Amino acid sequence: MKLLLLPSLLLLSHWVIANQFTNPQVPIREAQISTPLLRLHKALIEIESISGNEHEVGKHLVSYLESHNFTVETQDVPAVASDQRPRRNVLAWKGKQRKTRTLLTSHMDVVPPYWPYKREGDEIWGRGSVDAKGSLATQIIAFEELYAAGGISEGDVALLFVVGEEQFGDGMKKANDLGMSWDTVIFGEPTEMKLASGHKGITGLQITAKGKAGHSGYPHLGKNANAMLIPALHALLNVDLPWSEKYGNTTLNIGRVEGGVAANVIAEDAKATIAIRIADGPPEVVQKIVLDTIQKAGEELDVTFTAGYGPVFINSDVEGFETIVVNYGTDIPNLEGDHKRYLYGPGSILLAHSDHEHISVSDLESAVEGYKALIKHSLK
Ligand SMILES: *[C@@H]1O[C@H](CO)[C@@H](O)[C@H](O)[C@H]1NC(C)=O
Ligand SMILES: *[C@@H]1O[C@H](CO)[C@@H](O)[C@H](O)[C@H]1NC(C)=O
Repeated sequence: MKLLLLPSLLLLSHWVIANQFTNPQVPIREAQISTPLLRLHKALIEIESISGNEHEVGKHLVSYLESHNFTVETQDVPAVASDQRPRRNVLAWKGKQRKTRTLLTSHMDVVPPYWPYKREGDEIWGRGSVDAKGSLATQIIAFEELYAAGGISEGDVALLFVVGEEQFGDGMKKANDLGMSWDTVIFGEPTEMKLASGHKGITGLQITAKGKAGHSGYPHLGKNANAMLIPALHALLNVDLPWSEKYGNTTLNIGRVEGGVAANVIAEDAKATIAIRIADGPPEVVQKIVLDTIQKAGEELDVTFTAGYGPVFINSDVEGFETIVVNYGTDIPNLEGDHKRYLYGPGSILLAHSDHEHISVSDLESAVEGYKALIKHSLK
């Protein structure tokens, strides 16, 4: 992080000095540079859009794109339990030609909790500043700048912003009903402005234990669900899972454990939810190993897996870009079709999802150029 911060601090101090010479009256805060890119990024972050609550940010995107002369189409995605208001994917293009060769896409939802927008010199803080409103804003600006400069025209590029990426990928899965196909799809997620050459697969599981409640003084009259669950979890901590040169180890995270009601009551129910990041092979292989491990632990437990997918190959054959392998999941496997796919965006995944999510202005600006280069490459 230090390495990343230094150049931006230097840049800022240059700018402050220059500014003091030209206009000593302007307080530094007010004078902070605001460009169309930074204004759009700010507006997107200021609208809370935790998965399920994408209604308002979707509306904002539609009005922004319409007022910038895009042709805009929306696609309803079923509401999730917590919010009954409509959530919509947003598809936009220039002129009359809906079919384009290249698609730029990212997601408008963010993970909880909400953190407000805050500008601190060259840094922009707030939920979504990295994941993925940094990608979203830079994709739009890259498109607009290229279009204005005559670098792309009608029929070349479309934009698709989906809901629900952070939860079930239901937005992108729904986008398969748009009846569209593209030669190239450029997915926007934080990759530190490198081209991802692949990402790990994922599968999830829930283990539930059903015991029998009773007074803790008479354990033989009940059956403790926590005691049934714990040996299985312990065994999973030590299980050997497939690995690969490219993706490293398959990793297993026991993300949530719940069980029982009080210290003096035999626990009747217990459950654990687990996410597995797959480094090799299809999810079925990992699922079988996990299931065998749980069975060997010797208790009668219910195990349900989410379908999941194995490691995902991503194209990264563009000159001038560094490459990276990432451990997170994306919407890439949720979009059907045999398009070329790229994964690229500003910011670090290590900051995304954290309480200190932030991005630098210079990274946003560089990503605009990065997207332009990728678009041009895709249209060659
Ligand atoms: C939108 O198109 C109209 C009519 O062609 C033009 O006058 C206007 O400047 C355009 N606005 C933007 C933001 O490009
Ligand atoms: C993968 O797991 C092995 C064995 O558990 C460990 O020694 C190694 O450091 C791990 N590799 C990485 C990249 O974490």
